[in-house]
Amino acid sequence: MRRGGERRRQAVLVGFMGAGKSSVGKVLAQRLGAEFVDVDERIESAAGRRIGEIFASCGEEAFREMEKEAIRDAVSAPGRVVAAGGGAFVDEANRRALKAYAPVFFLEVSVESVMERLSGDRSRPLFPAGREAGKLRELMERRSPSYREADFTVPTDNRSIQEIADGILALMARKPGARREGERA
Ligand code: S3P
Repeated sequence: MRRGGERRRQAVLVGFMGAGKSSVGKVLAQRLGAEFVDVDERIESAAGRRIGEIFASCGEEAFREMEKEAIRDAVSAPGRVVAAGGGAFVDEANRRALKAYAPVFFLEVSVESVMERLSGDRSRPLFPAGREAGKLRELMERRSPSYREADFTVPTDNRSIQEIADGILALMARKPGARREGERA
């Protein structure tokens, strides 16, 4: 897709587990006519294993190395919509690579919504069965300064995937300066 004769940079989605990065990313890519890259899926297909198995057999540190590699790969071709896993943006090199690639959208979600959205989910090693809200809040707060380095913040609580994608598209078309939906430049 072209704007002013230049190739569009498209978008990067970051944020906590359960924020809706993959679902929103798919819709957004479709609306933009762009390729969608889900970093977690890339890791799984490169390793031939699910993320839970990678954490269980190799540990989180090895997973983070695979994640770095998958991000390098995700940003190797222009014009994509990239959804990164919840911990990816905490790493400085990942942050730098993603921010240099395209505008970064932080999908903001409350602990309450995460608990609700992921209640039956067993695929996330950092969200084990019986995870208490307090532990989740602690992890979210620890990551919050990194998420705040995104170019834009997009609220997701009580909003549909379509509404969130619309919000991102509106921000992509905005005048420079606004950092949050509804904000004027
Ligand atoms: C993680 C989030 C997961 C996945 C892995 C670690 C995290 O991705 O990358 O389980 O550290 O928050 P989602 O954010 O897509 O759940």
